Amino acid sequence: MNSILKIGHRGAAGYIAENTLASFEKALELQVDGIELDVHLSLDKEIMVIHDETLDRTTYEKGYVTNFTSSQLQQLGIPTLIEVLTFINRQCFINIELKGIGTAKPVVELIEHCVLSKNWHYKDFLVSSFDWKMLEEVLWLNPKIRIGVLTEESIEGAWAFAKKINAHSIHPDYRLLSKENVVLMQEKGFEVFPWTVNFKEDIQKIKSLHVNGIISDFPDKI
Ligand code: G3P
Ligand code: CA
Repeated sequence: MNSILKIGHRGAAGYIAENTLASFEKALELQVDGIELDVHLSLDKEIMVIHDETLDRTTYEKGYVTNFTSSQLQQLGIPTLIEVLTFINRQCFINIELKGIGTAKPVVELIEHCVLSKNWHYKDFLVSSFDWKMLEEVLWLNPKIRIGVLTEESIEGAWAFAKKINAHSIHPDYRLLSKENVVLMQEKGFEVFPWTVNFKEDIQKIKSLHVNGIISDFPDKI
């Protein structure tokens, strides 16, 4: 059995403000195998790394991310995806979660640019989303990009969709997992990356199911 991959959620969000360069630096310091982050588009169509569709929770500004330019957002401490990739520089793989409307195409184009011109490899990326339409778009645009199917509702639904789009992995809310359904997903060829597993007892339990990776705010606890 291979070891379980440690994936830092929004960087290392348990220690440092989520989805910031400092949080990604902390995750690297904790020797993660992968970093999960969230993306939305700015007014000028840059890919910005932020979880919510508004600025209200994580900055001192208010309003929708899509109503601010990338330079305004950068001044609020929100990095662009390009900045983050340049900073991480292939030290671990990146799980890009598509949150904002219209993010599929620019993310695919950026991955292609990194692979063709910056010495990155497709296996350095994993694109996930709860919005399965956007995952279909990723597949249609570039079938070489690895896809992760997110679900907080149904393993069966995610599994059926993962088959349909030839996904790499299934990313369920960890509370949906059982010994049986983990085996079933793995037998069908999918890696299983549950989220967001933060407490010691939960981490122990999920590790005992032999999942392929765990997404955690405290990746050093995995
Ligand atoms: O990608 C796993 C997890 O991040 C999904 O939930 O709300 O933290 O983006 P959320
Ligand atoms: Ca996320």
